[in-house]
Amino acid sequence: MNILANINELRAQIASWRRAGKKIAFVPTMGNLHQGHLQLVDVAKRRADKVIVSIFVNPMQFGQNEDLANYPRTMADDIAGLTAHNADALFSPTPQLIYPRGLDAQTFVEVPLLGDLHCGANRPGHFRGVSTIVCKLFNLVQPDIACFGKKDFQQLAIIRQMVIDLSLPIEILGVATERAADGLALSSRNGYLTTEQRAKAPALYQILQQLKTAITNGNHDYRTLEQQAKVQLTAAGFVPDYVNISNQHSLALATTTGEPKVILAAARLGTTRLIDNLEL
Ligand code: PAF
Repeated sequence: MNILANINELRAQIASWRRAGKKIAFVPTMGNLHQGHLQLVDVAKRRADKVIVSIFVNPMQFGQNEDLANYPRTMADDIAGLTAHNADALFSPTPQLIYPRGLDAQTFVEVPLLGDLHCGANRPGHFRGVSTIVCKLFNLVQPDIACFGKKDFQQLAIIRQMVIDLSLPIEILGVATERAADGLALSSRNGYLTTEQRAKAPALYQILQQLKTAITNGNHDYRTLEQQAKVQLTAAGFVPDYVNISNQHSLALATTTGEPKVILAAARLGTTRLIDNLEL
């Protein structure tokens, strides 16, 4: 795997693949790679000739009181995992390379409406940071395809919308959430959980599954179901941020039986915020 330290090396690598007529897939990450990320690499490998991964802990998407400084950085393990999964190149820039004038002076990309809901309501500026870095990385890498995990369902919807709105010629592929045997969605933040919290964590997915069953069995009182799920989460030891039964495309709260739905949830166990979702 080629490790590309700067923008010149990145551009030279991409240009040489282009000259050889290769199809390029891109997997943007913040590192601390787990099986979910490596699954993205595997899917990308099947869909393109060359796979490039980025590792960049993006300061712009972290709020003032969030975990930027403590976010796990495990570069040696990440390189080993990517090599084992036959990634072709890794781009791992510094914040100085990406934001040379600092965050406050940086031009940004913001997807309105979709970015204001759910996690956007609880984490102001988060999705602006995500869409800005993803747009910037897309411009640097210029891939044919980019792969994102469906665990971050709202992020995926925002990136799809950004690509449409800005006419970026990139196919966005959503890849199914990887789960531990007990159902917990894989996430770098799971590593923050204490043993006791880790034992409680699968209840989030179980409660979403019960909610899905209730809806498919004909309960369409969505707002009451959301409240009940929050009560269940609280009883299971979480502090719920939201449980929202939403339209899969607009992400607005679902109101009709016919529309395609997704249940989106975020809840805290101690200081760790977990998110999960379930499509209907
Ligand atoms: O999902 C992530 O890991 C990040 O939000 C992303 C897409 C790499 C942007 O920093």
